[in-house]
This record gives sequence, structure tokens and C-alpha cells, in this order.
Amino acid sequence: MIGTYPLARTLDIVGSVGHRFQVWGRWLSAAAGGATTFRAHREGQVARASARRELLSLIRLSDAQVPPDGGWVAGADFLLLLARQVLAQKPGLVVEFGSGVSSVVIGRCLQLNGHGRLVSFDHDAGFAELTRRRLARAGVPGEVHAAPLKPGVDGYGGSWYGHGELPDGIDLLVIDGPPAWREEQAESRGSAAPAAFGKLAPGGIVLLDDAARPGEQRVAQRWRAEHPEIAFEDAVTQKGVLIGVRA
Ligand SMILES: C[S@@+](CC[C@H](N)C(=O)[O-])C[C@H]1O[C@@H](n2cnc3c(N)ncnc32)[C@H](O)[C@@H]1O
Repeated sequence: MIGTYPLARTLDIVGSVGHRFQVWGRWLSAAAGGATTFRAHREGQVARASARRELLSLIRLSDAQVPPDGGWVAGADFLLLLARQVLAQKPGLVVEFGSGVSSVVIGRCLQLNGHGRLVSFDHDAGFAELTRRRLARAGVPGEVHAAPLKPGVDGYGGSWYGHGELPDGIDLLVIDGPPAWREEQAESRGSAAPAAFGKLAPGGIVLLDDAARPGEQRVAQRWRAEHPEIAFEDAVTQKGVLIGVRA
């Protein structure tokens, strides 16, 4: 047991998602070898559609209220994992970096829980406004703040949000931004550590999306070395998720 919320329990929640998405492992290996087969590709599509159906049924929202995944939106498997986590953990405070469909999912789960506050940041004012409209359309509460990017901190390259003082007592920290697909941005999400780890509540959870990318893997290595108070584990999804639990 780590802190008040056991890592084993988080991994249980994720494990059932991870099991379903072992198919991603096969798809990614095939893709890495330049040998993506039609069958593996089709299996990936089926797994994604199945995760989306399960997500919509779990959070009881319609297709129109949850825009489809793909492109910049978090994968359906990550959204399902996120929903399960919020419904099981019942966090009082969720802070998210990189708003979007994930904000609708988090806000809806907090609504179903009957309590909890979502504070989401987006570097792009237009995208922050789009997320606010999506929340309103779904009838879901949540604060979305525009926080333009500044240079990364503490030696992490790339950029990080100019978010000002964060609230204390974060129970769930979701990191799905800023965009980090270009090499010079690759370690941007590392700055979440100096910015927010000190604000985590005991037992607080960290979820880093896109954790299978080389930049996030370097970030994860440094976090593991510099934050022994947080136990980190990898979970299998299409894009990889790093899960941390603060003691
Ligand atoms: C990985 S995305 C975050 C996705 C979000 N968590 C979701 O589930 O929809 C990171 C950032 O990319 C930006 N973004 C999202 N969609 C975009 C698009 N189609 N084109 C350019 N930027 C986009 C937004 O500013 C967002 O905060």
C-alpha cells in the first residue's frame, strides 16, 4: 500500500483496460518493424471502437457529446482508463494540462461522483474556449484556463504553461499537453514535476499520456530518479500511459 490509495488498485483499474489493449502492443510492434498487417490494423480499429462504446456506456453520454478520438484527442483507451480512475478514486481536485475531450470525460465522472472540481489548462485560448463549449454542450462542470506557453523549467527543454499558482491538494494530475511531437518540444511535459508534484495530495495520482514516445520516456526516467516519493508504473495503451502514485 502506498499512501492512502494503493498503486495496486490503480493498476487493477488500468489492468483490465491494458489487457484489452494488448492488441496495441502487437499493432505497435508490427508498425515498428514496418510490417503493419491489415489484420493488426483492423484489430486496432475494433479495440478502439469497443473502448469508445464502453466509455460512453460508463459515463452515460451520447456520441455527439463526446467528440470522436483520433488526431490530437486522447485515445479511446486512455479516456476509458481516465474515466475508470476518476469513478473509482472519487478525487476532490483534478488538475489537467492539455484540455479537450478528456476534460469532458473527467468533468462528467466528477458529476456522476457527485463531487470534485476540475481545473484544466490549455496553452491555446481558442482551444480552451472550444473545450468550454464542449463542457457546456455535455452539461458538465469544469474550469478551463488559457495559459500561454513559457520556456520549460528546471532544465526540462521545450515549453510549459504559464499557469500561475496551482491549487493545493491535487488528487489527480492529468498531463496530456503541451503538444510535444517535435524534437525540440519532446521533453516539455517534464516540467509538470517542478510545477505540480509538490501540490499533490498524499496518495495523489499522476497520469502522463503519450508515455511511449522517446521524449516522455526520458522524462519518466528523470522523474523516477528525482521523485522517490512517487511510485511509477507503465500501463499498456495505444500511446502508453505512465501512472504515478504519491506516498
Ligand atoms: C494532446 S492535445 C490534448 C488533447 C486533450 N487532452 C483531449 O483529450 O482532447 C494537446 C493540445 O493540443 C492542442 N490541440 C488539440 N487539437 C488540436 C488540433 N486539431 N490542432 C492543433 N492543436 C490542437 C490543444 O491546445 C491541446 O491542449
